[in-house]
Amino acid sequence: MPDAMEPAPSVLDEILAGLSAPQKTLPAKLFYDEAGCALFNRITLLPEYYVTRAEMALLDRHAPEIAAHAPPGAALVEYGASDEAKGVALLDAGRRPFAAYVPVDIAEPALLAIAGRMRGSHPALAVVPVAADFLQPLALPPAVAGLPPFGFFPGSTIGNFRPPMVRRFLRTVRATLSGVEAPGFVVGTDLRKDPSRLLPAYDDGAGITAAFNRNILLHVNRIADGDFDPDAFAHRAVWNAHEGRIEMHLESRTAQAVRVAGRTVRFRAGESIHTEDSYKHTPDGFRALAAEAGWRSGGFWRDPDGLFGMHLLRG
Ligand code: TRP
Repeated sequence: MPDAMEPAPSVLDEILAGLSAPQKTLPAKLFYDEAGCALFNRITLLPEYYVTRAEMALLDRHAPEIAAHAPPGAALVEYGASDEAKGVALLDAGRRPFAAYVPVDIAEPALLAIAGRMRGSHPALAVVPVAADFLQPLALPPAVAGLPPFGFFPGSTIGNFRPPMVRRFLRTVRATLSGVEAPGFVVGTDLRKDPSRLLPAYDDGAGITAAFNRNILLHVNRIADGDFDPDAFAHRAVWNAHEGRIEMHLESRTAQAVRVAGRTVRFRAGESIHTEDSYKHTPDGFRALAAEAGWRSGGFWRDPDGLFGMHLLRG
């Protein structure tokens, strides 16, 4: 936990700190500007990117069983809801209907769009969007205070967190959802598999993932008055077997100097900016991490092809 008295570093400070480190990095949240969100949507449709389809196939098959673990009249609290497709799969599967849907995300426009659509399609459901950074402690809104919460974190976004962050996030969620005897939290994780299957998902033939990765440089140019030439960086996806993660890098094609926020950042030829990690947890590995954050396992499902998994955690 950061010290409460310490001001949050500005995004400019984060950018400069990342580009000054021995292994250069950039804040991954900068992927998701408008162009980045559009590119990520295209990633989810790529033949190589099995992740989204596998998760939907899992929900198609197992949503009724998963939803049956929610207490009757629960509030479905979905973390990182960029659209409602996965939430709806659970909401519509329950025989004991959910009373409320609480999508939580930092992107307010997307949340308002979700709420608008959901009020049309699910008029009996209380739709209570919460615009918040879900990595920070969160109190559920008063409108759902009386309902038992049931947490949901699809999308394998948890795969983008390093283990200490996973533990911190899982503890934070546990605090938010506590108040009932055994809170439930359903978390989607992409599964460990052969790198020959993993790597193309992060380096597709059409170059959409490369464009998504390079788009972070355009975002930095805009908000930090930078002069990155995205074409001067190669997209690299690397399987790090020791850490069990895909790493995304932008590798400088030449020795070059870039101006960012009034500073000069130098690159050697071949030097990279490490932009993102995507951890591929084994079921046992994830259960162990969750246990360290005080959760025990209450169920596990995978899609018919065994690519993607969903854990039910119990507090
Ligand atoms: N959560 C997605 C994942 O890890 C994000 C993602 C997909 C991503 N492709 C990417 C992040 C390429 C950076 C670069 O699967």
